[in-house]
Amino acid sequence: RDFKGYDKGLVRLNPGRWLFPVDYTKFADNLYKFKFRTSDVVVMTWPKAGTTWTQEIVWTMRNNPNLDHPLAKMGVNDRSPFMEFDMLLGSKKLTPLEDNASFMDTFRKQCPGKDPKDGLTLQMSEAAPDPRTIKTHLPFSLHTPDLLDTAKVVYVARSPKDVVVSYYHHSRLILCHDFNGSLDQFTQYFFDDDLVFGPYWLHMKEAWEKRDHPNMHFIFYEDVKTNNMVELQKLNKFLNTNLTEEQLSGARGDEEFVNLGETFFNENVLKNDGGFFRKGEVGDGKQRLSPEQQAKIDQWTHQHTKDFGASFRYTC
Ligand code: A3P
Repeated sequence: RDFKGYDKGLVRLNPGRWLFPVDYTKFADNLYKFKFRTSDVVVMTWPKAGTTWTQEIVWTMRNNPNLDHPLAKMGVNDRSPFMEFDMLLGSKKLTPLEDNASFMDTFRKQCPGKDPKDGLTLQMSEAAPDPRTIKTHLPFSLHTPDLLDTAKVVYVARSPKDVVVSYYHHSRLILCHDFNGSLDQFTQYFFDDDLVFGPYWLHMKEAWEKRDHPNMHFIFYEDVKTNNMVELQKLNKFLNTNLTEEQLSGARGDEEFVNLGETFFNENVLKNDGGFFRKGEVGDGKQRLSPEQQAKIDQWTHQHTKDFGASFRYTC
């Protein structure tokens, strides 16, 4: 395939048809048995739905309301670990882990005496200090069934048109994906549930069905973008953080304050097409996708969301 980063191959799981780099199987059991705590907040998304932004907001609200935390400048994924990232770290397109000084340094500090081969980001997630803010792209069905009875989950949804364009850029930019094909091919993979972390709609459906659970907070990227303070207030309530409006204003997680930490970029894509924070716009997909692709997404969306109900406020 035209993803050179998946050099060890992919694995498709049943049921669900979830698609992952084959290294997922090394960590699947331990990911499923991960011991969540009542003080954990899990930021769960399909890729490119605004995960990093939400991690930064949630971490800041819970740890740094007065913007004076000494570790606030650490990489966002060091403060708020990406629990299943190990499955992508095995790509030969990346520097071997042992040679990756900055990543290994953080690991050794956080997990003294542990072996990175047993899961670097998984063990960093286990060792993270309370209260933990954990990032995951895994769907509910691949987590422990009592996740919501233990921890809080913030699920972020974003328009599939913007997600597919953002994921296309990301997959070209980040070397553990290293996609070399066209946007047209990439969009076809999206429809065919042939992208890593897919299928998109099943991921969303599993979360949507749980939206009324008291430990679940379902939000839309578009709302956070256009109605920021209202969404921050809702999060404030959900997280029981009791922040003032002034503190919430400081916890908006604006891009310029987000340190991504360790990154694995394709320098050409970075130079020519931009970095991780590309545009963040609502409606960018409509600028980039052809009318035919958009019509196909509209139809695909309708087919999958017709049972979701009117409260699925979804901006296509
Ligand atoms: P675009 O590629 O459309 O610009 P994720 O963190 O899930 O990978 O999502 C990244 C997307 O969220 C990018 O979208 C990025 O620009 C957007 N975004 C918007 N505001 C952001 C913020 N404050 N911090 C991080 N990402 C932000």
